Amino acid sequence: MQTKYLQFNSDDLNLAGELIRQGELVAFPTETVYGLGANAFDEAAIKSIYVAKGRPSDNPLIVHVWNESQIYDVAREISDDAKKMIEHMPACLTIVLPKKDTVPDCVTAGLDTVAIRMPRSVEAREFLRNAQVPVAAPSANLSGRPSPTTWQCVKEDMDGRIAAILCGEACDVGIESTVLDLSHGEPKILRPGAFTPEVIERILGKPVEIITNPKSKVNSPGVRYKHYAPKVPMVLDLTDDYEKLCAYYDQKVREGYNPVLLVHHPFRYGKRHAVSMGMDANDVARGLYERLRYLETRYDFIIASFCNEENTLYGGEIGIGIVDRLKKAAGGNII
Ligand code: TXA
Ligand code: MG
Repeated sequence: MQTKYLQFNSDDLNLAGELIRQGELVAFPTETVYGLGANAFDEAAIKSIYVAKGRPSDNPLIVHVWNESQIYDVAREISDDAKKMIEHMPACLTIVLPKKDTVPDCVTAGLDTVAIRMPRSVEAREFLRNAQVPVAAPSANLSGRPSPTTWQCVKEDMDGRIAAILCGEACDVGIESTVLDLSHGEPKILRPGAFTPEVIERILGKPVEIITNPKSKVNSPGVRYKHYAPKVPMVLDLTDDYEKLCAYYDQKVREGYNPVLLVHHPFRYGKRHAVSMGMDANDVARGLYERLRYLETRYDFIIASFCNEENTLYGGEIGIGIVDRLKKAAGGNII
């Protein structure tokens, strides 16, 4: 199939909406990462998302809505906690609620809950308004790969596999939305992101648990799978220990690799290949996936370091989400 490259003008936005209503797949920008969208009520279209991505079908999708009334089209019950969170939408936040029967099982992988997100980016909102239906969308990468944060990264993975890509801006946040389960019992964060635990606790007026154990039953099914991984091996250090990183790098060179350090202070490492992880925590998040996609084309071993210490440029609560993504990208290989 020949993928169309669409712009943010009214003709192309109309076409993107039409394609969605005809059951085609359209990739679109949000403030977190690019999504791969299909009409949430069209089973055949949803199934083609799993095919295009090579995604396991027991990993449910997020339904993207344009306004509050679309939330009522897909959720069966909206608790008081959910109402409080909805007041703070649009946001880089996804809430999990009991689902209506009208939402096909293939969207939710058979769960009786549905994940709902109202993205904040103007481009995402324009696309969703034109679609006129709720849009189910995972990140627009091949399953297991780093999520795409530019349309060029979407092209790398999806060219020829989907009907169209809406070529918008680079994503501002860079890591996926916070997933907050409000479907039953106490609120739980299933996936940390830029909408931080601190802010959620302030809105709800109570503590929220962050579920990070991938074996936990209440966990988001998606966090079980290999995720965000570059094509070359990667290890992660969480201490920013200069001596350790140098020794590890030199060892890899002796083993015949062409390694690269992805670190806070690249200038420290002299002649060793070293690239900046980002200037501060927000910059790290914004550039993370694109840096991994770039480094895998130039080097054959990535040694990443991220130190999430409070009161540093790199600390803060978005750091929890960054560490979560880095651990997965490194396949749990912490040095
Ligand atoms: O920022 C984002 O959330 C991006 C953009 C495109 O919106 N989307 C995204 O989708 O990251 P995806 O498919 O890559 O991740 C969806 C996550 C997975 O971890 C999945 O398991 C979880 O949401 N999820 C979806 N439905 C769920 C449900 N009913 N219960 C629990 N977790 C659910
Ligand atoms: Mg994803």
